Amino acid sequence: MIGLAGLMSVTAALLLVAGDGGDYRRGRDFAERYCKTCHGRPDADVPAPDFGVIARRVQGRSDDELRQVLHNPPHQRMPNYNQSNEESDDLIRYLRDVARGYPP
Ligand code: HEC
Repeated sequence: MIGLAGLMSVTAALLLVAGDGGDYRRGRDFAERYCKTCHGRPDADVPAPDFGVIARRVQGRSDDELRQVLHNPPHQRMPNYNQSNEESDDLIRYLRDVARGYPP
């Protein structure tokens, strides 16, 4: 018998996981293919900080704010890939996981 409080916290944890869209591995694959031509490449035509740095920088922003960044990059040099919402969620998951120590 785990008790009502225990049951409620298990349910809350499950809801948190369920609401947490996106997949780190898919996000990382996408970044590998489309983003790391600049990010983490000091020798690129348009060099940008690696995602370890970027992930920490954007940590405080909400998912919606990050979606805005990914769909309408604020700076001109970053191409807009028109990725699907799922791909954006994967990239956001990736950035969040990198911010807490996953490999960029
Ligand atoms: C053509 C080069 C280039 C590519 C490709 C690129 N970026 Fe960037 N990105 C940049 C530059 C330059 C910056 C700004 C760096 C800075 O502010 O120091 C940046 C900044 C960012 C930021 C931070 C924005 C902010 O508001 O601080 C995020 C998040 C980001 N990029 C994500 C991505 C993702 C995800 C991809 C792949 C879909 C990607 N970038 C592909 C060049 C690129």
